[in-house]
Parts: sequence; C-alpha cells; structure tokens
Amino acid sequence: MQNSINRNSYFNQNLSEVDRAAHLEKLLRQQSQQRPLYENNLAILGCGYVGSALAKYWQKQGHFVTGTTTSRQRVVSLSEVTSQVILMKGDDANAVQSLFQERDAVVVSVAPIGSKAVNEEIYESTYLPTAWNLAQVLNQTPTVKQIIYLSSSSVYGDRQGEWVDESSLVAPEERKSQVICEAEKILLQAANENQRVCVLRLGGIYGPGRELIKMFGGLAGMTLAGRGERFINWIHRDDIVGAIEFARLNKLEGIYNLVDDSQLTLKKQVELVCSRYGLPPVQWDPSKPSLKGKSVRISNQKIKAAGYQLVHPQLLLVPTNQSSCLPPTNPN
Ligand SMILES: NC(=O)c1ccc[n+]([C@@H]2O[C@H](COP(=O)([O-])OP(=O)(O)OC[C@H]3O[C@@H](n4cnc5c(N)ncnc54)[C@H](OP(=O)(O)O)[C@@H]3O)[C@@H](O)[C@H]2O)c1
Repeated sequence: MQNSINRNSYFNQNLSEVDRAAHLEKLLRQQSQQRPLYENNLAILGCGYVGSALAKYWQKQGHFVTGTTTSRQRVVSLSEVTSQVILMKGDDANAVQSLFQERDAVVVSVAPIGSKAVNEEIYESTYLPTAWNLAQVLNQTPTVKQIIYLSSSSVYGDRQGEWVDESSLVAPEERKSQVICEAEKILLQAANENQRVCVLRLGGIYGPGRELIKMFGGLAGMTLAGRGERFINWIHRDDIVGAIEFARLNKLEGIYNLVDDSQLTLKKQVELVCSRYGLPPVQWDPSKPSLKGKSVRISNQKIKAAGYQLVHPQLLLVPTNQSSCLPPTNPN
C-alpha cells in the first residue's frame, strides 16, 4: 500500500509516549508528502464503521483517500485502508479547512461513538460545530464539488407505521434526531451552483461485525410485550458504500432516503433471525403495551428512480467476515 505507516517502528516497545507521538507525526507528514497521481482526491470525515469500508473501496478504485479519526490509537489501522490519516475533530475550524484543501468531494460520516448510547450534549457537540465549520469552509474551497452527509431516517420521527418519503415533513422527537436534522439543514443551505450537498438518510446500519443476530439473538425464547408491529428500517453497509459512490458519480444533490426494500415489522425480523439461527422463537404478549419505539415505513423510491440498485434489497441474515459484494459503480 502507498504511504502506509511503518507499524513495526510505531509499535516498538522501547519508544516512550513522547517519542511515539513524534514518530507518528513524522509518519503522517511523510504520508501527505508522498502523494502520487490519483483518480480523485476524496476525504472522509469520520472514518469509523462505514467510513473505513468506503475508504477501502475507494482505495481499490485508485483514489487518494484521506480519512479522519479522533483517536490516536486508530491511526495505524486506518492507514491500511486510506492514503492519508488525519487526527482531528469537526469542531476544529482550521483542521476542517485543511481537510478540504484540494479535495474533489468530502463524505461526512461522523457519529459520537457508533451504535452505543451517548447523551444529547455529546450529540450536539459532535454534529453542530462540525456542520457549521463544513458549511463555512465549503464556500472557501472551490475544488470541493460535493459534500455527502450521512444522516439518519430517525429525522422522520414516529409515524405509527405510515409511509414517508423525502417530501414528507420531518418530525424528529428526541433531541438527538433534532441535532442530526439541524446539521442537515446547515449543510444543505451551504450548497451553491458549483458545490452540491447530498444528504443520505440512512436506516439502521448493519453488516459485517454488526449482524442482526447480535441485535436480536438475545431476545430468543423471551416473551415480549405487545405485538411487535412496529416497522424498523435497515441498510447494509455495502449499500451505504454503494450509494455514496453512486451519489458521487451521478453528482446527486438534495435529500435521498437509503433503506432496503424489506419493510418488515420487528416481529417478522426477530422471527427470521431466530429461525435462521435455529434459536427458540420469541413470543408476544398483546395484553401488555408495546415498548416505546418509532414505527415508520421509509420509501427508497427516489434513489432507485435515480438509478441506484440495492446490493442487498432484503435483510442479509448470514454473517459475513468481510464485504460480501463490491458496490455497483455507475450504471449509466
Ligand atoms: N449506527 C446507525 O445505525 C446509524 C443510523 C443512521 C445513520 N447513521 C449515520 O451513519 C454515519 C456512519 O455511522 P458509523 O456507524 O459508521 O459511525 P462510527 O463507526 O461511530 O464512526 C464515526 C466516526 O466519526 C468520528 N467522530 C466522532 N466524533 C467526531 C467529531 N467530533 N469530529 C469528527 N469526527 C468524529 C469517529 O472517530 P473515531 O475514529 O475516533 O472513533 C469515527 O471515525 C454517521 O454519520 C451516523 O450518524 C448511523
């Protein structure tokens, strides 16, 4: 791999913390100086679960890929799937400014700590200053032709099983979804005739390492309150990578929902997982009120009408060690 960090010297046990930090900085500097000619110069702000998979895919396609992390410990592993790693947070305006320099497109895949629960303040301080900085810097860096922001379908709120599409009014109930929605608005308003902003509203993310068995398997054999009738929307990581690439190649702008076609109730999803893994089924007790949770059916027609073909239209129940399919490239 081009520009990779020398892992052996970084992990040298004899290095002190200070030496290690200096060594890391030197390696990061070297990486950015060794840049050969690449197809496109792309940046991923927030190279976590989705960002790393995207980086790996883009690297294979021959692009120069810069990925960011907030954790020093992740720099070495990220250097294996990116051309360059930057340690930064989105609230650092100077860092955002330099991240944007000479990029063709920037993907924003920032989340506090993935799927784990974090409080509202952390949500606010993660998304909002980042969105303000991105909006401000976009207009000062004309090379960046597109920002693709990974948002969430939670912005629609609870619709009691009704269908929504991109023209539906958003109704985020809890503060976390409101924050994600505010970040969308800030970024969409920053678009101009030469610089597009595309928002992908994702369903719950699953894929390698985040399999549905891990989320539902623990319910096997239990009796749950209610009827399990709420609709939960999912999207496989392969399709997030695929749709980002589709959005980039087709210069999409505006809002697109990104969920699969499965549109199943919680009851059906749990049933499928238990049956696939030979686990005892879940029983439902309709005499008790269902646990609180959103129920909404999200239309994915807009992105399909634009030409995107889902890699995994139905829930993928079998765990995979790695990305099972390469995302499609431009179908046009
Ligand atoms: N999880 C879901 O089911 C779900 C559903 C809908 C939408 N989404 C959206 O999908 C996107 C990707 O999610 P994911 O699961 O891949 O997230 P993830 O694995 O948690 O990765 C998030 C990345 O953001 C970085 N980050 C955290 N705080 C930051 C800050 N203040 N400034 C800059 N970077 C920061 C993290 O840094 P470190 O490398 O240091 O950890 C990490 O690289 C996110 O935008 C999320 O909002 C997720």
